[in-house]
Amino acid sequence: MAKVNVTVKILRFNPDVDEQPHWQTYEVKDIEETAQVLDVLHRIKWYQDGTLTLRSSCAHGVCGSDAMVINGHNRLACKTLVRDVMPTITVEPIRGLPVIKDLVVDMEPFFSHYKAVEPWFINPDPPPTRERLQSPEDRARFDDTTKCILCAACTTSCPSFWANGQYVGPAAIVQAHRWIFDSRDKGTAERLQILNDRFGVWACRTAFNCVEACPREIDITKAIGEVKKALTFGTVDF
Ligand code: SF4
Ligand code: F3S
Ligand code: FES
Repeated sequence: MAKVNVTVKILRFNPDVDEQPHWQTYEVKDIEETAQVLDVLHRIKWYQDGTLTLRSSCAHGVCGSDAMVINGHNRLACKTLVRDVMPTITVEPIRGLPVIKDLVVDMEPFFSHYKAVEPWFINPDPPPTRERLQSPEDRARFDDTTKCILCAACTTSCPSFWANGQYVGPAAIVQAHRWIFDSRDKGTAERLQILNDRFGVWACRTAFNCVEACPREIDITKAIGEVKKALTFGTVDF
C-alpha cells in the first residue's frame, strides 16, 4: 500500500488563551494514501500534539460526529481519504455554530432546531395488536430521508443558516420530511405548521450547498421542495 507525506493545516482555537482562531501546520509522514483524514488527525493528536481537540466515534460514516470543513468542503473526516485531498489538507470546524475548541462546535443550536420539528412518531390511535402495516410504495416516499445521520454538514454549509441561525436548516427539514410523508404518522399538519414560517422552510433559497455537503447523498432539495409543495397545496397526496 502506497505511503505518502502530507501537510495538514488546522484552524485552531482555544477559548482559554486565544482571542482569534489561528492556523497551525503539522507534517505527517508515511501514512497510507487510503487512510482517512480522521486517521491523520488522530496521528497528530496521539503522537504530535495532544492539545488538538476533535470529535469522532464510529469512524465509519454512521454516527455523524466528525463533520468538518476539509479543503473548503463540508465532509466527514472518516469518509474522506488522504489520497483524495493530499498533499496539503486544510481542516476547519463546521461554520455557523459556536466553536468550543478547535474542531469541536456547540451542536446545541442544531439539535434544538431538530427537536423543534417533533422528529418522533405521532399517532394517538390505540396501538394495533400487531405492527402498523405500510405498503412498499408508501414506505418508499420517505426512504431517502431515513438515511440522515444528523451530522450537520448540510445546515452548516447553508448560506441562509449562516445569515440567520434562527433558520431551522436543511437537516431539520429532512428529519421532518421523514415523518410528514410517513403514512402511519398523524402529526403531518402539526409539523407543516411549524415549518410554515419565515425561519422554517421558506428561508431556503435553493442554494444547493446542502446537497453537495451531505455524506449520505440525500436529495435534500427534493425533500425541501416536497415540504414546500405540501404547504402550498395543503396535502401530501401528490
Ligand atoms: Fe448530515 Fe445529510 Fe443528515 Fe444533513 S441531511 S444532517 S448532511 S446526513
Ligand atoms: Fe440552504 Fe440547501 Fe436551501 S444550502 S438555502 S437549505 S437548498
Ligand atoms: Fe462517526 Fe465519522 S466518526 S461518522
